[in-house]
Amino acid sequence: MMSKIIDGKVVAKKVLAECGQEIESLKAAGVTPGLAVVLVGNDPASMVYVASKVRKCAELGLHSRKIELPEDATHQEVLDVVLALNADTSIHGILVQSPPPPQIDEGAIVRAIDPAKDVDGFHPENVAKLALEDASGFVPCTPAGCMRLLKDAGVETSGAEAVVIGRSMIVGKPMALLLMSKEGNATVTVAHSRTKDLAAVCRRADIIVAAIGMPGFVTADMVKEGAAVIDVGINRVEDSSAKRGYRLVGDVAYDEVAPKCSAITPVPGGVGPMTIAMLISNTIKAAKQSHE
Ligand code: GUN
Repeated sequence: MMSKIIDGKVVAKKVLAECGQEIESLKAAGVTPGLAVVLVGNDPASMVYVASKVRKCAELGLHSRKIELPEDATHQEVLDVVLALNADTSIHGILVQSPPPPQIDEGAIVRAIDPAKDVDGFHPENVAKLALEDASGFVPCTPAGCMRLLKDAGVETSGAEAVVIGRSMIVGKPMALLLMSKEGNATVTVAHSRTKDLAAVCRRADIIVAAIGMPGFVTADMVKEGAAVIDVGINRVEDSSAKRGYRLVGDVAYDEVAPKCSAITPVPGGVGPMTIAMLISNTIKAAKQSHE
């Protein structure tokens, strides 16, 4: 089978072009959407993600603020930053990069974010809105991006058997909710590290979303001929021939899985660019809603 390679950069560009028009009309009405990104500590991957989020805001003419706190920042210090951002009217979206250092109670920080500024969609109010299919909430960026990729690639989710591998709050759980929603209409199984005979579960799938954080975890024997595969994994593996000493690989063993698929996302260049595009889109939505 000739698999269609889903180009996340192309779809992200489309989403950002739509955002560009909305930014113009908001600015014409005197509102510049503003995003604050909070980074605690110096996790190398988080530093890269945060820098690219802030860069993309600047490119699009959004107001952005990057707030960096040291690795040994206290929970109270992070909380104070969030509370100040809640009160800052130039900021419409707040994102605290995950994972923070262990002394930070991440759940408490997320609950402290004003739900109307929670562009990550992690606050319990937004999680509930997603489950209730209340469109006024914020949908987490990565699964929202995966849904958009499926739609753009013409993958029919309605009536499909979908298997989500991974049950995280950031990807797995919201992905399952989106796929089973009235928009997705899929029959959804959420598989994880304790799932018995995961390969057999995956082989049933018309759509696989891999979000388990293990390089090359999904192998060809786990994939049905003609399935669509969305690879959320961004794993660093050592590679002495690479300039940085590592390369990025997904959760899917791409070379052996791709020939069996009807459609597949590469890593990098698949889901990654979509996450930022959906973050910008959520920030615009927050700015709009704050001025309604
Ligand atoms: N870490 C990995 N993905 C994300 C995300 O979407 N939002 C935040 N805040 N942290 C992350």
